[in-house]
Amino acid sequence: MPTIEELATFCKRKGFVYPTAEIYNGLSGFFDFGPLGVELKNNIKREWWKTHVHQREDIAGMDGSIITHPKVWEASGHTAHFEDFMLTCSKCGQKTRADTFLEAALKIKVEGLTADEINEQVKKHKLACPSCKSSFKEVQPFNLMFSTMVGPKEESSAKSYLRPETAQLMFADFKLVAENARMKLPFGIAQIGKAFRNEISPRDFLFRCREFEQMELEFFINPKNQGCPFIDEVKQHSLFVYSEEMQKTGEEHKKMTIADALKKGVIKTEWHAYWLATEHLWFASLGANPDHFRIRQHVAKEKSHYATETWDLEYEFPFGWKELLGMANRSDFDLQQHIKHSKKDLSLFIEETKEKLVPHVVAEPSLGVERAFLVFLFDAYHDDKERGNIVLKLSPKLAPVKVGVFSLVNKLNDETKKVYDLLKKDLFCVFDTGGSIGRRYARADEQGIPFCVTVDFDTLADKAVTVRERDTTKQERVKLSDLKLYLLSRC
Ligand code: GAP
Repeated sequence: MPTIEELATFCKRKGFVYPTAEIYNGLSGFFDFGPLGVELKNNIKREWWKTHVHQREDIAGMDGSIITHPKVWEASGHTAHFEDFMLTCSKCGQKTRADTFLEAALKIKVEGLTADEINEQVKKHKLACPSCKSSFKEVQPFNLMFSTMVGPKEESSAKSYLRPETAQLMFADFKLVAENARMKLPFGIAQIGKAFRNEISPRDFLFRCREFEQMELEFFINPKNQGCPFIDEVKQHSLFVYSEEMQKTGEEHKKMTIADALKKGVIKTEWHAYWLATEHLWFASLGANPDHFRIRQHVAKEKSHYATETWDLEYEFPFGWKELLGMANRSDFDLQQHIKHSKKDLSLFIEETKEKLVPHVVAEPSLGVERAFLVFLFDAYHDDKERGNIVLKLSPKLAPVKVGVFSLVNKLNDETKKVYDLLKKDLFCVFDTGGSIGRRYARADEQGIPFCVTVDFDTLADKAVTVRERDTTKQERVKLSDLKLYLLSRC
């Protein structure tokens, strides 16, 4: 696996990701996606939407606004609680995020430490500013929301925020969506969109940015009916589990089936288990290595203010096991808060029992697009010494470009262009005439193009082309009349 720095260099060289506005030296925590990056990102989002919305009868989609009524953030608790602790250097004033700094300096897990505990650790270990080595001031909380003014006003009543998560409008608009989509419990609402966090120390390339996208799902249930009708579909699925208990006793994570994790009470609810397995399977279905993942339970101290239980799907990045997807049980916290602050009724009428109730969010799979982007790239990246180039073994479903269309010699460019024109209506292709055929194959490998089609002199006679598979380099002769269907079925 490459290091995160090597991957960032590769991404820039191949046109996946650039630091934003690099001609002005960039802006920390912000990135621009190049020609290949925008395709990969769109493909990830499309696959997520397909499996989480289009292929399910029990989930409806929506798209809320990025800036909304500030009362939403008061109700959700973000205005008061969405904070990280920050260390400030007493001499040069440099600001550092306290938990990640302590974690790196002391090689310990520090999530959920209080301000006093952080100050104690800093004093005890004589930790100093990473830039000028001077001492730190007392740790301070720092709210991560970006604020802005709405309309041509300066007064505080015009103040609002860029959303720090997509979740909240799925609660605020809950009743409208449920009624319009004619949903009955249990059901979910899904959304993909931008989120913004003024991170104190953005780091590790796309892993922690200030502007990113989330793919989130709120799954609502009747609290009196906790059973998951789909649990048998995932009971035999196994994955690495790292429970709160294992973390306390210093045990390693271990592989378990979902059935075992439920039987032993490691995962408390069937729905939580079902969604954890489903998200893990989603990554595997798109070519990620399932053994690079584990689920980790939050220890009591690190749970968010809204969560009764949280599990993260973690991935083993080159810089350690880190959160890829968070999945909290938010119970009825958010709906109750919005009922209280808006004074509107957000309960549902349950036909069978003739009662009104406020549903519970039993699981909220929440995944950052950029972190998923990194995971798929890390697992696809192969430095092939024999070929002498990188081979990006992305699933054809995610590959930015599906087909490279080449001519063996330039004389055949007109014939080749006809093949490209035939395919481009249904598949994103490139028509590449630059350099030797070997050079073009190498370029295609590095861009993750799963199939290359070459037109040669025989094509004029046998009306067939050579199709080369990226991962095996196996070549096959395919009739022009079958070519489109052949490639579509394999992509
Ligand atoms: N609605 C719940 C929520 O937002 P979270 O654990 O704070 O939960 C969910 O965020 C996911 O969003 C994370 O697991 C991660 O994939 C992504 N994410 C959060 N902060 C991020 C950041 N600064 N940069 C990139 N992705 C981030």
